Amino acid sequence: MPPAKAKLIEPIDATFEQVMKAVIGVQIANDPPQPLMIVDKSLQHLTGKVWCSDNVRFMNERIPAESISCIVTSPPYNLKNSTGNGMKAGTNSGKWAGNPLQNGYDSHGDNMPHAEYVKWQRECLTAMMRVLKNDGVIFYNHKWRVQNGLIQDRHDIIEGFPVRQIIIWKRAGGINFNEGYFLPTYEVIYMICKPNFKLSAGANKMTDVWEIPQVKGNEHPAPFPIELASKCIEASPGGVILDPFMGSGTTAIAASGHNREWIGIELSKKYCTLAESKISQYIGKAQIKP
Ligand SMILES: C[S@@+](CC[C@H](N)C(=O)[O-])C[C@H]1O[C@@H](n2cnc3c(N)ncnc32)[C@H](O)[C@@H]1O
Repeated sequence: MPPAKAKLIEPIDATFEQVMKAVIGVQIANDPPQPLMIVDKSLQHLTGKVWCSDNVRFMNERIPAESISCIVTSPPYNLKNSTGNGMKAGTNSGKWAGNPLQNGYDSHGDNMPHAEYVKWQRECLTAMMRVLKNDGVIFYNHKWRVQNGLIQDRHDIIEGFPVRQIIIWKRAGGINFNEGYFLPTYEVIYMICKPNFKLSAGANKMTDVWEIPQVKGNEHPAPFPIELASKCIEASPGGVILDPFMGSGTTAIAASGHNREWIGIELSKKYCTLAESKISQYIGKAQIKP
């Protein structure tokens, strides 16, 4: 008998909706939402909501210590703080032409002095470590780049945090070619683990290179694909999922696809509203909290 045909999605042309359906495998709009497992009563008032807030403040003030099992997140990369051919607002030539991040994020310029950015990201990771259970894991997506002839591999951010492994996310390249550069096609995911973390059964068969197409058709300027969040969640054995840089709600949608509870934090009211609409479109139970 011939093998069953795998569901294929065209990398470059896949929209957020197509990837969602292919990865989660359900069209949630007309299906009744599945009941979520209540795993931790101390978090019940926080889960299933996008909290419109500064994430460090929210984590420190509202989330109990050692209560979260898995964090899947991608911070702003500080891309507008760039040496050389940096990303300028309105650039319509070179490798940044048409990049949706030319003007930064809605409530964040993505242009901090480097030392300040590193300090901020270390504060974010410290707050994440505080709320993480002793068997919990953080999947921290970032991007390496060369600045002033030196590799900026983000070691200054993650130094001292218990990084156990680095996963390569092989994504499709952008559409803007530059004659001085090979087309960049990867980002990294730092897997930062508390001491008792173990992968869920069978997850160690995933390799450390994940080939996942980027998403098109999302109003947010820098979403990660639902499949990326989905793989991280699948690799963690259970418990509540947190994304402190929630953006358009991708992690929440992936979490619900795995019947896992989630908490989202996002600074921009505009993106909170976007996340709410995407999440309720697919799941029907998102709430924004000011
Ligand atoms: C790379 S995007 C995350 C995109 C998200 N993974 C998705 O799939 O849509 C980073 C997000 O962090 C948000 N952000 C920036 N500073 C923040 C802060 N202090 N607290 C919470 N969110 C913040 C930005 O508004 C932006 O939406």
